[in-house]
Amino acid sequence: MPLHRHEPGDEELDVNPLYATGATRSGVPKLRIPREPMDPEVAYQIVHDELLLDGNARLNLATFVTTWMEPQAARLMVEAADKNVIDKDEYPQTAEIERRCVHILADLWHAQPHQTAVGCSTTGSSEAAMLAGMALKWRWREARRAAGASADRPNMVMGINVQVCWEKFCRYWDVEPRYVPMEGDRRHLTGGEAVKLCDENTIGVVAVLGSTQDGSYEPVAEIAAALDRLHQGGGPDIPVHVDAASGGFVAPFVQPDLEWDFRVPRVASINTSGHKYGLVYPGVGWVLWRDRDALPEDLIFRVNYLGGSMPTFALNFSRPGAQVIAQYYNLIRLGFEGYRRVQQAALDTAQHIAAAVARIGPFRLLTDGSELPVFAFELNPEVERYSVYDVSDGLRKRGWQVPAYSFPANLQNTNVLRVVVRNGMSRDLADLLIADLRREVGQLGKLSSRLPQHPDRARFHH
Ligand SMILES: Cc1ncc(COP(=O)(O)O)c(C=O)c1O
Repeated sequence: MPLHRHEPGDEELDVNPLYATGATRSGVPKLRIPREPMDPEVAYQIVHDELLLDGNARLNLATFVTTWMEPQAARLMVEAADKNVIDKDEYPQTAEIERRCVHILADLWHAQPHQTAVGCSTTGSSEAAMLAGMALKWRWREARRAAGASADRPNMVMGINVQVCWEKFCRYWDVEPRYVPMEGDRRHLTGGEAVKLCDENTIGVVAVLGSTQDGSYEPVAEIAAALDRLHQGGGPDIPVHVDAASGGFVAPFVQPDLEWDFRVPRVASINTSGHKYGLVYPGVGWVLWRDRDALPEDLIFRVNYLGGSMPTFALNFSRPGAQVIAQYYNLIRLGFEGYRRVQQAALDTAQHIAAAVARIGPFRLLTDGSELPVFAFELNPEVERYSVYDVSDGLRKRGWQVPAYSFPANLQNTNVLRVVVRNGMSRDLADLLIADLRREVGQLGKLSSRLPQHPDRARFHH
């Protein structure tokens, strides 16, 4: 959450005179609780009107997070709004639905029948990353202690392109982050580069499917093979965690032959965001471990459950159950074929837009939407009068949110635009975007001098 601070000068919220009555006639305090209750319709209208100022989700090509669900799913979520996922006594069927989702994912991610995958829902991939990271740290520490070695300097190896949740994990749990920088055309982690940073204090290597920066998949099997060779050569035995925040709900359906999951023996755990390509409204993620050995027992808490004891692993205690229920709805409603069609349509649309972008002229594609339905593109070096930030601003005038940002080390001078295609981005919308982009670039191309650039424009948070 943003850390909110007091902003002076905005104490009162104006209430539309059509429905202002009694105390609300003189406005509603913004930063203090109103002294008296108000009519529920008035309260509803105030909040409803304020939310109209939020962006139009359909035109938001920045987010990976679901912005549309079927009315039946929305209905179920409203019906389940009071369910607390931790309260397994009161809501045993919600717990059962969560359990089924874990096993459905374990199956999609090729957990072997003899390997009992364990897992849970989370608020999203960030909480899932914290849990998976802790499991890696605990396992490494146990092994070090068992070997009589010091366990006070853990590190984690990953590409610099990782989402900020891994930086957070390292800072919050006192683990040294070891980032492999980008170089030339290599914008994510490879096996060779990962191994160079590993040592006996490495708790794990994080491989991302796919990268938030450009939608590309990191080569999980190749990274695992490099770590196999390291171990065979007498080096440490380092597990891999796959951050499949987006790819976990894409690859199983549209790239079924890609081996990135529990088929790769070194993959100890996997996370995904149900609220990204899992197609659920925000608030649900999943994390699974290959087997009980991958999840140390002392991280698990037991809650009393129907007279028995229910193992849990979570940062939160109380948490909404509605998203878990909506995930299950999607899984049974769409089935494998439904998810496949949705993700294939997103891939086709992403590649359609990417091909059109390449034809417009001034752009070079860095990815083409063939892994995740996400692609990044930069301006050709000969374009000097405007930047990707100007293109992003220009599209914003038409309502499109297409973020522009610079890559991390060592490609800080590469500035890109990124398009995330989600369910609901129709061909019609795609063609409108292409037309608007073409028009904008046409206008910018007529500039007779260079537009001023502000250094803080490059800030886009993934
Ligand atoms: C690769 C990756 N990991 C983790 C996250 C964090 O996910 P969440 O928003 O579900 O916490 C994201 C979000 O974009 C992501 O792309």
